[in-house]
Amino acid sequence: MRSIIPDYLTEVLDAVRPDASGEPAGYIPELAAADPERLGAAFAMVDGEVYGAGDVDTEFTIQSISKPFAYALALADRGFAPVLAKVGVEPSGEAFNEISLESDTGRPRNPMINAGAITVHSLAGPAGLNATERVERVVDGLSAFAGRRLRTDDAVYASEMAHAHRNLAIAHMLRSHDILVEDARAVVDGYTRQCSVLVSTRDLAMMAATLANRGVNPLSGEQVVPEPVVRQVLSVMFSCGMYDAAGDWGTQVGIPAKSGVAGGLIGALPGHVGMATFSPRLDNHGNSVRGVSLFERFSSDMGLHVM
Ligand code: DON
Repeated sequence: MRSIIPDYLTEVLDAVRPDASGEPAGYIPELAAADPERLGAAFAMVDGEVYGAGDVDTEFTIQSISKPFAYALALADRGFAPVLAKVGVEPSGEAFNEISLESDTGRPRNPMINAGAITVHSLAGPAGLNATERVERVVDGLSAFAGRRLRTDDAVYASEMAHAHRNLAIAHMLRSHDILVEDARAVVDGYTRQCSVLVSTRDLAMMAATLANRGVNPLSGEQVVPEPVVRQVLSVMFSCGMYDAAGDWGTQVGIPAKSGVAGGLIGALPGHVGMATFSPRLDNHGNSVRGVSLFERFSSDMGLHVM
């Protein structure tokens, strides 16, 4: 039965390939230069089998898909209460790079938007790490989710940092509310390095499969984060992972998911499979156009909607 998956993936890639709508992210110059025709899809089953079609081994930067994994690491490293005291779990209904702070507490509304993710980066690892050690903790943790050693892309990191005015402004707002308690620029620097981790579509499917497998990497067998952390992360992915398109996604696709501006997209179906797609052209929410179409197909063709 499973042997039909590669043919199925090839067929759905061919179906979405002609759609050239959308544009690669323009605000990070290095990403604007990406080949917009790249297209790939992979499924990683919770027993460790991986199926792929198209450009599944091409590496690109993880960007916002790092956010749920960094959130998982912060929850595991610090415990729920200190993280929830600083970052909420409500959908913002706004774009990923809006400030979106709660008016009474100054907390970012959720960990999937930039304000929340910048805060979460500052909470990864045990208290007291310096900025370099924290980036190492995050890259190590993301590597454990993927089941192989990942590295960062210095050119994409530098390109984003040179234009990071908006994230710096958000971080200074967070610092003014004492949500961030360290140097705002240093935290944005670390967060930007986190976003520059290189992954393939195959890696992303395995990272999603680790979430689907309740925190155990299907290949290494390592329990990367505890099960209650995974439930928290998947819940927030369901309600907030697609930003201000989360409602459309929840009704039409119906699985926890996360997108990134380099064109990656993941979905995790608990107990079954981690799925990932790659296509760099984005819609006006910052989600991959062909990636969203692919997931709509996966969900309807295989009845994956969790409701
Ligand atoms: O902070 C940023 O704007 C980027 N490093 C990540 C944004 C992102 O991937 C939004 N998702 N679709």
